[in-house]
Amino acid sequence: MVLEMLTGSDIKQDDKEIVEYHHNFQKWKDSLLERINTPWCMFDFPWKFYKMYHNHNEIVSNMNGFAKRRLEELMVKEKSNNKPKTEGKFISFLEELSNVGLSKQELLDEIHAVLFGGFETTATTTHFFCFMMALYPEYQELCRKEIDEVFSDPLLTHDGTLTYDAVSSLKFVEQCLLETLRLYPPAFMLMRNLKKNFIFDYEGKNVNVPSGTHIIIGAYAIQRSEKYYPNPEVFNPDRFLPEECAKRNPYTYLSFSAGPRNCVGYKFSMNELKTIVAYMLRKFEITTTDKLNDVTLLPNITLTPERGYNFLFKKRKF
Ligand code: HEM
Repeated sequence: MVLEMLTGSDIKQDDKEIVEYHHNFQKWKDSLLERINTPWCMFDFPWKFYKMYHNHNEIVSNMNGFAKRRLEELMVKEKSNNKPKTEGKFISFLEELSNVGLSKQELLDEIHAVLFGGFETTATTTHFFCFMMALYPEYQELCRKEIDEVFSDPLLTHDGTLTYDAVSSLKFVEQCLLETLRLYPPAFMLMRNLKKNFIFDYEGKNVNVPSGTHIIIGAYAIQRSEKYYPNPEVFNPDRFLPEECAKRNPYTYLSFSAGPRNCVGYKFSMNELKTIVAYMLRKFEITTTDKLNDVTLLPNITLTPERGYNFLFKKRKF
């Protein structure tokens, strides 16, 4: 979906290049982790003598090759298309960016930023959402009720597919997604470099963190803190009712970060996730044989389950 939004082209699910890009992304993460876990490799000189360095370079060059090919295809398509830019179904994200005059390198950087930011985050969130729905069948039923109502409303569907308004109206599904992301934020910690001195109160003492310090903000820890979320380990979508959100400091929810460098794909990804799970729950009932503590969570750049959870998708009868 994210690549279709970027390029405006239909992407086949089994597109070999996409599957390969995904494998390369996983390998890139592994090489980055190996570098982080091997302290002397943090310096460029020893890192260059490490076996993983060469693998890392090969992976990066494969991913760059993919991004270049997709961009060139798009540029050829754009040249041969004489229609004015506003005509046609919709303008792809890359077309919009090239219209504002970004260079080829800047467009390539955007492709990587959006693919890195939008690929795995959405995939793992869908996976964790299925797990929560399987563990809490009462919430799965409530989501399905809301989804069925939308599908049976002729004003919210078009030839059996959901309209934008339909997706926007899935409020309870959205609450369940936000609650899933509270418990399982893919970006479980955020990193910042302080531009100003930062003074905060710690157990009655003023602590001064000087500007230039690299800090880590523990989104996972904040979102599982009893102080902000009573019974934090319990999946409770009511925490995201508007009146409950209004009671909380907005900076206690950091799944999409906050401030000027927050997630640019926030709205897109919520609509994407709501669409995916609406079609999934419309067609299937989800159960699992796994328990909450069966699978270890790994801090592998993004929050990743050690193995995938087991699901049974039972086709619904209408
Ligand atoms: C469940 C889905 C997603 C989650 C949880 C998520 C989370 C985040 C977070 C936490 C950040 C900030 C990182 C930081 O502050 O260091 C971020 C940045 C970003 N995200 Fe997302 N994201 C999601 C989906 C997407 C999608 C679908 C796209 C693309 C369409 C996207 C594009 C980006 C980009 C380009 C940035 C960098 C923004 C910047 O540095 O200014 N994300 N995302």
